Amino acid sequence: MSIGIFDSGIGGLTVLKEAVKLLPNEDFLYYADTKHVPYGTKPKDEVRRYIFDAADFFAGKGVKALVVACNTATSIAINDLRKRYSFPIIGMEPAVKPALEKVDHRRILVLATPITVSEKKLHDLVVKLDSEQTVDLHALPVMVEFAEKFIFDEDMIIRYLLDEFAKYDLREYSAVVLGCTHFIFYRKHFMKILPQGVEIIDGNIGTVNRLMTLLENRKLGCGSKGSLEFYCSGDKDTDDSKYRRYLELEY
Ligand code: DGL
Repeated sequence: MSIGIFDSGIGGLTVLKEAVKLLPNEDFLYYADTKHVPYGTKPKDEVRRYIFDAADFFAGKGVKALVVACNTATSIAINDLRKRYSFPIIGMEPAVKPALEKVDHRRILVLATPITVSEKKLHDLVVKLDSEQTVDLHALPVMVEFAEKFIFDEDMIIRYLLDEFAKYDLREYSAVVLGCTHFIFYRKHFMKILPQGVEIIDGNIGTVNRLMTLLENRKLGCGSKGSLEFYCSGDKDTDDSKYRRYLELEY
């Protein structure tokens, strides 16, 4: 049985990459909802429909577990997904907890899509953990499209980010949380503009660790071939070069 990994597009490949490293014998099905990306700027109800279409697809494939490698999808649908499907589902949320545990008393900037930033799930998490009110949330609405279009031009991305961060004094921050899997491809760009010592934190390793624990606890381990299959909004993509191009990126 395979493990499903799902994202609105190519962002979840950053999670797949970690998962393949740590679970080389497992078989993975990767679903990029390329026909409907981006999610984070669309109406919630519409996005929920796409998410359930993807989950139905994985149910049809009989996966043994599903990783929703998308903070946006997790924020609006994880509870309902878990109610509807019998296979275990792991979600992703911005790594606020690790950031607060890791860093000093300075501020933390959480970057995510507009849906994730406006959703109750993230606000509840911050209220629960951030007793000193050091966490700021900021939406980056076009980064997902840059990543989907394979735009990595350094000058352009840095100009965009500097513009987005104009209102912050970044020296007041000890960490930036990448709360969208697409943003992880831009880690090096973020490093260029953040003052020295600001940590960049994402939830990918934590997510894959949770997947490994789940496989172990439920005795779901022992994949067979170590295979990878890619699906574009439910259709098998026989040309996987597009995905491999992202998997080969260094960030
Ligand atoms: N990779 C998705 C996330 O982690 C991006 C969602 C979108 O398509 O806007 O939130």
